[in-house]
Amino acid sequence: MPANTIEHNRSRFNFDGIEAIWLFGYGSLIYKVDFPFLEQRPAAIRGWARRFWQGSHDHRGTPEAPGRVVTLIEQPDAVCKGVAYRVSPNVFEYLDVREKNGYLRFSTTMTFDDGSHAEGLVYIATEDNEAFLGEAPEADIARQIALATGPSGPNSEYLLRLADSLRQLGDDCSHTFAIEACLRAEERLPR
Ligand code: BEZ
Repeated sequence: MPANTIEHNRSRFNFDGIEAIWLFGYGSLIYKVDFPFLEQRPAAIRGWARRFWQGSHDHRGTPEAPGRVVTLIEQPDAVCKGVAYRVSPNVFEYLDVREKNGYLRFSTTMTFDDGSHAEGLVYIATEDNEAFLGEAPEADIARQIALATGPSGPNSEYLLRLADSLRQLGDDCSHTFAIEACLRAEERLPR
């Protein structure tokens, strides 16, 4: 799978006749909402865990010093909390470009806070994409994030904003919070 997924995503779904579709966000889509939406709700998906295992050489790093951003890894007992947006299909023309570095759109079932469900889409960077970095000790991930910066800003800002957003959502993401703690210790940031 090439790192640039724009064309692949365009051919994956036929949105003909569809006025709106749910999109589940678990990473930067939680706090960087630079696209129009019809409705926004806290939601969760089951069987997937958030991991900083995807490389970023276009947003939060460079080809020489890639940063690390989140993707989802299958884990049967996991629950990943995030935010669901009901969007017009043309929003994907923008998001497919914004998230072109290895992310494909997949169908998913999301659960809202009131227990109701909806089908929708989620962007996932699978391990066969060229920018996938995979598992590493959380302290090493924090060190890589501390050193990386790219056109969208420092990788540390991505991590800290995501960690704050997850606290507000009530997602006890031990992986994200462990990396955040290592980064704060390394950079002598207040907790
Ligand atoms: C998200 O926040 O859902 C997201 C994360 C990475 C790439 C695309 C979307």
